[in-house]
Amino acid sequence: MSENATLTLNGKKFKFPIVEGSEGEKGINISGLRNETGYITLDEGYGNTGSCQSQVTFVDGDHGILRYRGIPIEELATNFSFPRVAYLIIYGELPTEDQYHQFSDNLTRFQMIHEDMKFHFQGFPSYAHPMAILSAMINAAGCFIPELNEKNSAKHFDMQATRLLSQVRTLSAYAYRKSLGLPAMYPKRNYNYTQNFLHMMFSTPGDEFEPDPAAVAALDLIFLLHADHEQNCSTSTVRMVASSRSNLFASAAAGVCALWGYHHGGANQAVLEMLHKIEKDGDDGTKFIENVKDADSKTRLMGFGHRVYKNHDPRALIIKQRCDTLLDKLNINGPLFDIAKKLEEVALNDDYFKERNLYPNVDFYSGLIMEAIGIPREMFTVIFAIGRMPGWIANYKEVIDNTKGKIYRPRQIYQGKPLRHVDAE
Ligand code: ACO
Repeated sequence: MSENATLTLNGKKFKFPIVEGSEGEKGINISGLRNETGYITLDEGYGNTGSCQSQVTFVDGDHGILRYRGIPIEELATNFSFPRVAYLIIYGELPTEDQYHQFSDNLTRFQMIHEDMKFHFQGFPSYAHPMAILSAMINAAGCFIPELNEKNSAKHFDMQATRLLSQVRTLSAYAYRKSLGLPAMYPKRNYNYTQNFLHMMFSTPGDEFEPDPAAVAALDLIFLLHADHEQNCSTSTVRMVASSRSNLFASAAAGVCALWGYHHGGANQAVLEMLHKIEKDGDDGTKFIENVKDADSKTRLMGFGHRVYKNHDPRALIIKQRCDTLLDKLNINGPLFDIAKKLEEVALNDDYFKERNLYPNVDFYSGLIMEAIGIPREMFTVIFAIGRMPGWIANYKEVIDNTKGKIYRPRQIYQGKPLRHVDAE
């Protein structure tokens, strides 16, 4: 028998069905609430609101669980590269070898952007933030796909999805080159997804950059660990835009804008800024931790804590190991890394952090890895956007495949001025 929740309002009882997810999560389906009662729910920040039913990613923050399409992140990170996991996220299953070759060939086929796109890059000032350029350029790249103007543009989904996934790294690397006033580098056919990105970032004409395999593996892992994270701010934004039947490129460009913010994708950059500040202040991390613990200071230890993970961030455990290996392999050390180790050690053993369930999150280590690879700080959020693209694409697909889906349109409780009139003389 199906379960119901009963709501009593002004002495009258209303029943609402309980929806159970495949992992036992339960929600009260209140879609009939306003019609039946005249009331709406109010949940600022949506912390208690399920905005959709999705089959892409499962997160259980209390137990530190993250699964893409049912497969634990630990298994995926150990066995597969980012493009294979991207395929899984977008299509629901890991690819067969034939499927993967086709997918990979298409990623290579679409990796060049249209030559005319170079003119668009020229219009930005050199100090433009690469996230602004990326979002504008994703929309611009969509203009070169006439099929996107068709009313049912989604019927060309496969082509659009591979094209977007492939070109996001070309556009990102070009955005970086633009900020340095350097010529854009074309992608190479014989490089894999992540190698190619590093090549386009760091090669110059006549001076080929040979990506270090350890750095390629570490960056590929960063992409993979960020590939989806259910209904976060940027993914919800992509779904919101898609629900109006905007095309994939427009929806993803909106996702980039949402991710850009300091409270979302900007945290890994904040970690490095914090470490630099500690170094500049001549501290080894001890004074900084004392300051964080001071209730009046409002200072936070960046890269610690998570809104959902209250036990541990499973991505942080995976990436920490890779971070240590990479730093050893590339023989990287220096005050920043020493400070990071000190902060980690002190915070993990300090009651302030233990009592509040504050553990290092994925951003604490991903920032350090990117610093070690030589990626500039203003590109950190761009890296996050490249990684998150499969999740955005898969969520976009869920929205447009749902033929009964409605445009997303939350309501509000109006708190403005009551009715008043102009004083017409
Ligand atoms: N440093 C110090 N204290 C902290 C931190 C931190 N990083 N995070 C939370 N706290 C403390 C708060 O001051 C509060 O203490 P109190 O109970 O004495 O008032 C308590 O822990 C609970 O804090 P909330 O803000 O309620 O925790 P919430 O779960 O809402 O915050 C968040 C999560 C925003 C991520 C927070 O931990 C934070 O600001 N962390 C630093 C920024 C960061 O690393 N963000 C990246 C998240 S991962 C990602 O986006 C991929």
